[in-house]
Amino acid sequence: KADKKADASKPLRVATNATFVPFEFKEDANSKEYQGFEMDLLRAVAKEMGRDLEINNIAFSGIIPTLQQGDMDIAAAGMTVTKDRAQKVNFSEPFYESKLVILTPKNSGIKTAADLAGKQVAIQIGTTGAQYAEENGLQTKQFDNNSEVIMELSVGGSPAAILDKPVADYFLTKDGKDKYNEIEIPGTKSEYLAFAFNKDNKELMNEVNAAMEKLKANGEFQKLYKKWFNT
Ligand code: ARG
Repeated sequence: KADKKADASKPLRVATNATFVPFEFKEDANSKEYQGFEMDLLRAVAKEMGRDLEINNIAFSGIIPTLQQGDMDIAAAGMTVTKDRAQKVNFSEPFYESKLVILTPKNSGIKTAADLAGKQVAIQIGTTGAQYAEENGLQTKQFDNNSEVIMELSVGGSPAAILDKPVADYFLTKDGKDKYNEIEIPGTKSEYLAFAFNKDNKELMNEVNAAMEKLKANGEFQKLYKKWFNT
């Protein structure tokens, strides 16, 4: 059976869903290299801790269950700290402040969040965007991967998607400025992205927090932030 706690001599078992640019992604499906702010940050954290990483690319909706079962030690998946999730896993100190937004092709006719009524929105299963859609009674088309959500817009399958602002921002600056609009959702609050852990492994959470603090104190964190978010 899976061990609940990390054996410090073994690589950290990391669960991610590498379809969330610029936090975690692969250049293409065959690439072995994981890129992004959170991957760089995690590598820097692991280096501080003297640990190796074994990264596992799985469905986002499967990540909390694998932590709970003790099959993974840490989730690095752009995961928003929510009350519901905090009942099931522990979260590190947050490393990014995010928000949900609507991404829509310029010609969709969608100008405000209210325009989504009666329209189909693309969402990634298990995300806060999916939760928003459900709570607001929106019709959804659901995908396992965030890359498929964005693809859905480009092929015209759905007229809008709900996703994290930094992900929409990055997409717009890379490919989509002249073709897509990003629309604010009135009343949505800030979301804080953090690493997640098995509830029984507080030690690991504390070690990761301590390493992040060091990286903030020595400027490494800020360097990575600037590299990926250009601010
Ligand atoms: N921040 C959102 C959430 O926690 C979306 C995260 C999606 N992450 C990913 N790796 N695809 O629900």
